[in-house]
Amino acid sequence: MQSIEITRPDDWHVHLRDDPVLRDTVKDISRYFGRAIVMPNLATPVTNVEMASQYRRRILAHLADDSAFEPMMTLYLTDRTTTETVKQAGQSGLIRAFKFYPAGATTNADAGVQKMESIYPLFEEMTLQRIPLLIHGEVADPGVDVFDREAVFIDRHLDHLVKSFPELKIVFEHISTAGAVQFMQSSPANVAATIAVHHLLYNRNHLLADGMKSLYYCMPILKERADQQALIKAATSGSSKYFLGSDSAPHAQSAKEDCSGCAAGAYTAHAAIELYAEVFDEAGALDKLEGFASHFGASFYGLPRNSDTIQLEKRPWLVADRLSFGDQHLVPIRSGQEIRWSVTA
Ligand code: NCD
Ligand code: ZN
Repeated sequence: MQSIEITRPDDWHVHLRDDPVLRDTVKDISRYFGRAIVMPNLATPVTNVEMASQYRRRILAHLADDSAFEPMMTLYLTDRTTTETVKQAGQSGLIRAFKFYPAGATTNADAGVQKMESIYPLFEEMTLQRIPLLIHGEVADPGVDVFDREAVFIDRHLDHLVKSFPELKIVFEHISTAGAVQFMQSSPANVAATIAVHHLLYNRNHLLADGMKSLYYCMPILKERADQQALIKAATSGSSKYFLGSDSAPHAQSAKEDCSGCAAGAYTAHAAIELYAEVFDEAGALDKLEGFASHFGASFYGLPRNSDTIQLEKRPWLVADRLSFGDQHLVPIRSGQEIRWSVTA
């Protein structure tokens, strides 16, 4: 198949950061996505409705006048989040989800939650308010091997959480292992998972085997080829439990190439739907792209599908070496290389 038309897709997990880089990230995310779930892990985390409302206005200020793109706002859970905040979020009509980060697990997660079980009362309130819980599913325990952090999180926390809240919508974000896919297969209908395109395109050999590459350093860290293959199989299976969440996470080139500690995150918003199309094409499953990219996420969140379409064609284009990132630059995924699929309309 050389071209395909799909319902306009949505991105159910993206990092847009804040001014002065919103100009660049908003331009990229709004190219073809109709909506995006915007992560709240700003330098000062977005922890209440008022902050989310202001953040949304800053995002909207960078949208082209004719853009119909809709940023969907989330709140960041901390040890100080109250049930009152969850209630307010439910009543606001503005907050689409709460994001759980284990304290210290990833970029800007220092204000995250120390012990998941201590905020179970908040999950009860989320259930009542019908607000989904988005989980960064990795333990931050320094005694746990970085490649095992997702598996240990499932055993120590996620299994229990899912059993305890059968009515709460839970998204296991950016799954990165065959074990997570296995967990998902036996999980009930209130649990879904997003899959990032970099986890479908790459494995830890890309990160480590041919000179260490900061470009591919992200959380959860890239795993084995067998994990990558299990993720491709899940994403292209046609199961509505899996949907598109790019986890596009920009960092300035200087922060990625800092030898004293490379920032975690891969930038894909400049080319996300095209890269997913490449993966689905390679897997011989282009017919499954629309469900994954445009249908299943909306259904899970209880939202209508986008009403228009986009057209993708197997026509290569060249990604720039560097992209503008506020007053700095970033190096995007596929920097200086071709992507085999383009959006044509
Ligand atoms: C994300 C970021 O940079 O905000 N980084 C990443 O490696 N994915 C945070 C996250 O989603 O873990
Ligand atoms: Zn993320």
